[in-house]
Amino acid sequence: MKDALESLRKQLAVYERKAQRERKARCLAEQQLENYSRELYETNQSLQASLVNAKKKQAELEFLAKASDDVISKLSMTELMLNTVELTGNFFSAEYGFFLVTKLGSTVDFNNTQLWNKETGWSLNQEFLLAYMEYLPLAQDAVYQSWSVAPIPLKEKGQLAGFNWLVYFNIQLHNEQKVWITFLSRAEYLDKESLFVLDTAKGHLLSSIRRRLNDVQMIENKSKLNDSVTSLERAKGQLMQYEKMALLGQLSAGVAHEINNPIAFIRSNMEILLDDLKVYNALYRDIKHHLSEHHSLNLESFEQFISEADIDYIATDAFSLLRSNIDGIDRVRDIVDSLKTFSHSGKTAFCEMSIVGCIEGALKVSSLRYNHNIENELTDYLPFIMGNKGQLQQVFVNLFVNASYAMDNDGVLSITGRETDDSLIIRVSDTGSGMDKKILKQLFTPFFTTKPVGEGTGLGLSVSFAIIEAHDATITVKSIEGVGTTFEISFIKMSVK
Ligand SMILES: Nc1ncnc2c1ncn2[C@@H]1O[C@H](COP(=O)(O)OP(=O)(O)OP(=O)(O)O)[C@@H](O)[C@H]1O
Ligand SMILES: [Mg+2]
Repeated sequence: MKDALESLRKQLAVYERKAQRERKARCLAEQQLENYSRELYETNQSLQASLVNAKKKQAELEFLAKASDDVISKLSMTELMLNTVELTGNFFSAEYGFFLVTKLGSTVDFNNTQLWNKETGWSLNQEFLLAYMEYLPLAQDAVYQSWSVAPIPLKEKGQLAGFNWLVYFNIQLHNEQKVWITFLSRAEYLDKESLFVLDTAKGHLLSSIRRRLNDVQMIENKSKLNDSVTSLERAKGQLMQYEKMALLGQLSAGVAHEINNPIAFIRSNMEILLDDLKVYNALYRDIKHHLSEHHSLNLESFEQFISEADIDYIATDAFSLLRSNIDGIDRVRDIVDSLKTFSHSGKTAFCEMSIVGCIEGALKVSSLRYNHNIENELTDYLPFIMGNKGQLQQVFVNLFVNASYAMDNDGVLSITGRETDDSLIIRVSDTGSGMDKKILKQLFTPFFTTKPVGEGTGLGLSVSFAIIEAHDATITVKSIEGVGTTFEISFIKMSVK
C-alpha cells in the first residue's frame, strides 16, 4: 500500500513536472504568438504607410509628367495657363484657382479672367475674384523664385471665409508684363513636399512660357525678315529700272538722232514725191485737155508732153525715193524694237533664248550713239541659255556703253563667244583706256563712277552683276591701263539647242 502510494506520488510528481513544462512551453508559444502578431501589425502599418506614400509619389509623378507634357505641346499660351491652373489645382486639392496678366501692377484684361473651381470647372465670378485678388500683392515688383503661401485670417467673414491658404507665384514676361498663377485652399496645413513638387512644375511652366515667347519672337522675326526681303527685292527691281532709264537717258541723244535721220529723209522724199505727183496730175490734166480739143493724141505729141514734164526721170526717181523710205521706216522699226526689249521691265521670267540675238539688239541700241569699229564674231551656232532677254540686253548695253566711253574714235569693240562642256562664255573686249587696280577693286560697287557728275550713275556694273548672279552666271574682268579691258561672262548652256 505504501509502495503503491509512493509510486502514485512519483507519478504525480512526473505529471506535475510535465504540466509545468507544458505551461512554460505554452507561455513561450503565447509570447511568441504575441510577438508575431505585433510584428505583423507593425509590418502591416508600415506597408499601408508605404502604400499611401507610393500613391502620393505616383500622383506627384503623374502631375509632373503632365506638366512636362505641356512644355513640348503645341498649346497656345492661354491654353497652357488654363491647363496649368487645372492640373496644379487638382494636384494639391485647391478649391479655387485662376491666372491673370499684369502690366506694371495693373491687371490686363481683368474682365475676361475666369475662375477655376474643383467641382464646377471654369466660370466668371467677378465678385469672388475681386475679394480673392485683394490678398495678392499684384502691385509689388517682386518676381517669386518659388511658390508663396499666405494664410487667410481666421476671422475672415467675407467671400474667403473658411479658406486657410492663398498659394501663388508669378513669372516675368516681356513688356514688363507678369503672369500670376494662384490658388485658394481649405486644407489645414500644406505639406512641404507638395510645395516642393509644385516648384518643379513651376520650372516646367517657366520653360514652356519661354519656349512660346521664343516661338512668338521667332515668328515676329521671320515676318520682319520676310518684309525686309520683299522690300529689298522691290528696291533691287527699282534700282534695275532706274539704271535702265539712266542708260536710256545716256543713249537718248543717239536714239533721237538715229530716228530723226530717217524721219528727216523720209519727209524730204515725201515732199519730192508730192511735187512729182503734182507733175503727174498736171500731165494728166494737159493730156485730158488735149484729147477733149483734138479727140486724138499721136505718139509725137505724147512724147512731147512726157519730155516737157521730165516724166522718165520722175518715174525712176520715185521708185528710189519709195525704196529709201521703206528702208528708213524699217530702220526706225528696228530701233523701236530694240528699245522695246531693252525698256521692258519684265519680271525675272526666264525662257530659252539666244544670246546672239540679245547681243545684236544691245549693239543696235548702243551703236546709235557710239560709233566705233565693232567686231562681232558671234555665230548662230552658239548654244541657247535660260534667261531674261530684256535684263541681259541691259547688261550688254552697259558693257558696250562703258567700252565706247573708254575708247577713242578709232577704238575696236570685239565680241566673241565659245563653249565648253557646260558653259557658254561671251567675251567683250575694248581697246580703251583700261583701269588701274584701285578702279578695278570698286568696279562692281554701287554708285562707283569715274564719269563726270551727271553723266553716269555708277550703277551700271553693280546692277549687271546682280542680273548675272540671278542667271547663275559669272562675270570676270581683266584690264591693262592704256591697252584695254576684257569682260567675260560665263553662262550655263542649255544641253539641247
Ligand atoms: N570698259 C571699261 N573701260 C574702262 N573703265 C571702265 C570700263 N567699264 C567700266 N569702267 C569703269 O567702271 C566705272 C563703273 O562703271 P559702271 O558701268 O558701273 O558705272 P558708270 O558707267 O560710271 O555709270 P552708269 O553705267 O550708271 O552710266 C566707270 O565709271 C569706269 O570708271
Ligand atoms: Mg556704265
